[in-house]
Amino acid sequence: MLLDLDHVSKIYGDLHALDDLSLTVPAGQWLAVVGSSGSGKTTLMNIIGCMDTPSKGSVRLEGHPLEDLSSAQLADVRKDVVGLVFQKFYLIPHLTAVENVMVSQYYHSVVDERQALDALDRVGLADRAHHLPGQLSGGEQQRVCVARALINDPKLILADEPTGNLDEANEKIVLDIFRQLHEQGTTLIVVTHDALVASCAQREIMLNHGELSGELWNDEDAHQAYLAAGGRPAFSHDAAPGTQPSDLLTQDLPVGFANPTKAAKVGGQTTKGE
Ligand SMILES: Nc1ncnc2c1ncn2[C@@H]1O[C@H](COP(=O)(O)OP(=O)(O)OP(=O)(O)O)[C@@H](O)[C@H]1O
Ligand SMILES: [Mg+2]
Repeated sequence: MLLDLDHVSKIYGDLHALDDLSLTVPAGQWLAVVGSSGSGKTTLMNIIGCMDTPSKGSVRLEGHPLEDLSSAQLADVRKDVVGLVFQKFYLIPHLTAVENVMVSQYYHSVVDERQALDALDRVGLADRAHHLPGQLSGGEQQRVCVARALINDPKLILADEPTGNLDEANEKIVLDIFRQLHEQGTTLIVVTHDALVASCAQREIMLNHGELSGELWNDEDAHQAYLAAGGRPAFSHDAAPGTQPSDLLTQDLPVGFANPTKAAKVGGQTTKGE
């Protein structure tokens, strides 16, 4: 597995932003993470992206336990393995769009303006390359973030609401890029509130108050391959059947979502259309 979260929690005082979440993601999977505001999606992305550490549990990326790495080694993982599209953009305000993309190249390898301009062209921003973030719309800034995340060909793209500010045409541009990356074998983890964006992923997990509250497969072949490779359903708390909190049994899930408690009780996962 490229990514293995084992009983991961992030606790702030009384609040469990993530609550005992276990999740494995193989290389090449396209996973969507959905859930209401405050359900822990960004917290999860920050932990996977080595920007934050869990209060409990462990995270393995490419087989390496992240808790064993020094801050310098974590920074290396961040620049060598992961490409991040942040919910809040985090563009450097006094640098132009193309310079913001080149900063990512600078930390990774060699600065190449032509390549950075091509990445902006890919997200439809060739004509805005020399504008400052303050001169760009929210959707344009978001697409600069996508270009910045792609520029170093990361193995794992973590995208937090990457289409949240985009109109239909630009959402399509970003989804097409994700499709191409997926075909090339890139692993994608995409947080979204948009059902269409989520449905493009092979697998969806839903969070509720930091816990796994549902899992859905949109691609049955990928599901079977995942199980055959030893992949297991995501879960919170105990994986054993019948040990989930009983209130999950009555929880309303969107159409198609498997309730993990029910799934455990019937000994498997539900797939769309079953
Ligand atoms: N540094 C922090 N200190 C205290 N509480 C925090 C901190 N960061 C996040 N939280 C809390 O953790 C919970 C999960 O936050 P998170 O940002 O992961 O939610 P989210 O699912 O990404 O929400 P949204 O859809 O609004 O982006 C929220 O209740 C939030 O207030
Ligand atoms: Mg968030």
